Amino acid sequence: MVPRWWLQLLCLAGGILQALAQTDSIGFISIDCGLPGEGGYIDDTTKLAYVPDTGFIDSGTNHNISAEYLRPIQSRRSYNLRSFPDGTRNCYTLRSLVRGLKYLVRASFTYGNYDGLSRPPASFDLHIGVNFWTTVNMWSWSDPLGGAVTVEAIVVVPDDMVQVCLVNTGGGTPFISSLDLRPLKMKLYPQVTAAQGLVLYGRLNAGQANVSYIVRYPDDPHDRIWPPWFDATIWTEMSTTGRVLNGDEKDFFVAPTAVMQTAMTPRNASGSIDFSWDAEPRPDDPTPGYIAIMHFAELQLIDTNAVREFYVSINGKPWYYSSGYTPVYLNSAAAYDSVPSRYSSSYNVSITATASSTLPPIINAVEVFSVIPTTNLGTEYQDGNYLI
Ligand SMILES: *[C@@H]1O[C@H](CO)[C@@H](O)[C@H](O)[C@H]1NC(C)=O
Ligand SMILES: *[C@@H]1O[C@H](CO)[C@@H](O)[C@H](O)[C@H]1NC(C)=O
Ligand SMILES: *[C@@H]1O[C@H](CO)[C@@H](O)[C@H](O)[C@H]1NC(C)=O
Ligand SMILES: *[C@@H]1O[C@H](CO)[C@@H](O)[C@H](O)[C@H]1NC(C)=O
Repeated sequence: MVPRWWLQLLCLAGGILQALAQTDSIGFISIDCGLPGEGGYIDDTTKLAYVPDTGFIDSGTNHNISAEYLRPIQSRRSYNLRSFPDGTRNCYTLRSLVRGLKYLVRASFTYGNYDGLSRPPASFDLHIGVNFWTTVNMWSWSDPLGGAVTVEAIVVVPDDMVQVCLVNTGGGTPFISSLDLRPLKMKLYPQVTAAQGLVLYGRLNAGQANVSYIVRYPDDPHDRIWPPWFDATIWTEMSTTGRVLNGDEKDFFVAPTAVMQTAMTPRNASGSIDFSWDAEPRPDDPTPGYIAIMHFAELQLIDTNAVREFYVSINGKPWYYSSGYTPVYLNSAAAYDSVPSRYSSSYNVSITATASSTLPPIINAVEVFSVIPTTNLGTEYQDGNYLI
């Protein structure tokens, strides 16, 4: 028989473990970097609980951005930040993770003239563990003083913790405004393995004409951020209120229904959907390869003698579909690269109706990633004990 005091002790231990766990009840970590005090708050739009960063890092100093950059459109996370004038490498340690699980890690940076110098750092690097993640380039942003840069990676975490490090590369004092971590089901983003992670280049919700409507949690249970993408001069929007299913076992990307419910189609019904992106040189790779993921679902009940069939080409070469593709009514499917394609410095995508199609092509959403090697991701390094 188990004595009563033993049960009480177990409950007490459970309570302490819960209090020490860094993840919330759904496995998320949501940090508002530089938030003073011990208490967090509930984010207005996502209803997620954001916590201060004191339990995750012990270097750096807190700052508020300048009052003139406190715009209503900006989230509360961008009002304050932590900056790192000292040391070349300063790391956040995220604990209570599930060993071997896939995680989305996202960081945002709003300079907001926090130091009164009107001079954001030109650039600094981010590492996940000891692996280069990305260069944060404030000047590439159109409004560097007030605008926010957001970066995202999807990686397998081989340990029960992972470090996110800001590395001063001589381009100015690194700082960070927010840091998010979200668990993903292992079947999602099969391109992500123990050896390779994905770094987000862009993710867009096609056909969403409302420029302020950004899909994320809870509409996307994985809390990916899907900004709107629409240009009324060349595209028309198509939308449904019907539920778009994404539970198919072969759908490795589960774009949320709120994203799939809108699509765009060329304004000129005999035209194609054209878009492009340019390769962004990285320190280790002047022309990195890219993984594209395009999401399709039919949103209209098609007349029996009508056909919507299209194919995709990148830089004039057929991509993914060997023959034409017909999207399925209210069911999402994705076309994607399994390995990075490395064409040249620019990627021109064209989605074109086949000769037998009577309807123009559509697209509901697109994601583009580059890849990073991820070795020794979980290794905890003592300050000064590593090579940058
Ligand atoms: C930032 O602003 C908050 C609230 O307005 C204030 O309590 C805090 O002291 C400020 N922090 C700094 C470092 O100025
Ligand atoms: C656009 O989206 C925002 C944010 O969801 C919402 O508050 C606003 O009502 C929407 N506007 C229209 C015209 O639907
Ligand atoms: C529509 O697209 C077709 C095919 O690209 C082109 O030949 C035609 O000139 C376009 N029509 C208009 C009005 O732009
Ligand atoms: C992509 O399109 C642009 C503009 O039409 C063109 O200048 C560029 O050469 C194209 N790139 C490739 C690789 O086809």
